[in-house]
Amino acid sequence: MRVLVTGGAGYIGSAVTRGLAAAGHEVVVLDNLITGHRAAVPVGVPFALVDTRNTSEMCRTMQTYRIEAVVHLAAISQVGTSVREPRLYFDNNVRGALSLLDAMLDAGVGKIVFSSTAAVYGDPDQCPIVESAATRPKSPYGDTKLFIEAVLARYGEAYGLAHTSLRYFNAAGALADAGEDHRPETHLIPLVLQAVLGTAPPITVFGEDYPTHDGTCVRDYVHVADLARAHVLALDALSTGGRVYNLGCGGGFTVREVLASAGRVTGRTVPVVFGARRDGDAAELIASSTLIGQDLGWKPAHPALDDIVASAWEWAQTHPNGYPD
Ligand SMILES: NC(=O)c1ccc[n+]([C@@H]2O[C@H](COP(=O)([O-])OP(=O)(O)OC[C@H]3O[C@@H](n4cnc5c(N)ncnc54)[C@H](O)[C@@H]3O)[C@@H](O)[C@H]2O)c1
Repeated sequence: MRVLVTGGAGYIGSAVTRGLAAAGHEVVVLDNLITGHRAAVPVGVPFALVDTRNTSEMCRTMQTYRIEAVVHLAAISQVGTSVREPRLYFDNNVRGALSLLDAMLDAGVGKIVFSSTAAVYGDPDQCPIVESAATRPKSPYGDTKLFIEAVLARYGEAYGLAHTSLRYFNAAGALADAGEDHRPETHLIPLVLQAVLGTAPPITVFGEDYPTHDGTCVRDYVHVADLARAHVLALDALSTGGRVYNLGCGGGFTVREVLASAGRVTGRTVPVVFGARRDGDAAELIASSTLIGQDLGWKPAHPALDDIVASAWEWAQTHPNGYPD
């Protein structure tokens, strides 16, 4: 299929682009580079420097490349910033997605895979979280994703748009030639590795009195290569109607376990300071990914924390300054 990947110059999008291309799809990347990197787009993949809010340019890009399906990752995604600056998030993530959908309807593109998030659940009543669990986002960021899921459901009914929303838990790890380079970085594993390398301050652990087995928060880390594979499966399975799937490994690791893993993988001491709890952090967020396993046969190939951390460590060492732009 000819697939447009919005946000394909970003962390997950660059892995998805590689996964789709390896599976035989013809990929075009569209990105405004607000947080992405031109160098993250593989050589030979056409690149369009376009903002999703520019509907006519989006439509023109789809027509030029005779696009048949869209994987929509383009968004801004810092939970804390979204609380302080909600208008940026509604503008980019909601207006951008609505503009994209307008362009798709205008260009006759009827298939979409959408990057959603575990943040739609807020504080879950129980873990592992299943897709039918209550959705109560605690941030504007989560609101934007849940709203677009609802828009997709309505567009599916009204316009026959085929859609799948993938609710990622914590994306982590790297491919040999594509890794995490957010500026500023907010994700635990790259921050821990930067602390080890001395390019970031010691890692702060926010709270050690949570009701978990070692007192620190539990998160479900999923390798970016496994996320990429899920997009390939979701795209191939798109037909009429819509689906929503969680994507995690179903286990979950505490912050202390991540620190211990980084110590094992790097063979170095991880500089750590302990701080107070941070507002809004749930004690435990673990996905049930049973549904996508049953429906699409997806299963993480890299669920071991040390494997995930080792791939990120390889990337951090070979790209100490991230991408060269
Ligand atoms: N990283 C995670 O753990 C995680 C978890 C859940 C969901 N997600 C979602 O996955 C997607 C990708 O996340 P990521 O971590 O790769 O982020 P990222 O910032 O690395 O990638 C996002 C990409 O989208 C581009 N972009 C943003 N706004 C745009 C716009 N208006 N027009 C065109 N391009 C635009 C950016 O330049 C960037 O290349 C996002 O939708 C995010 O909400 C990520």
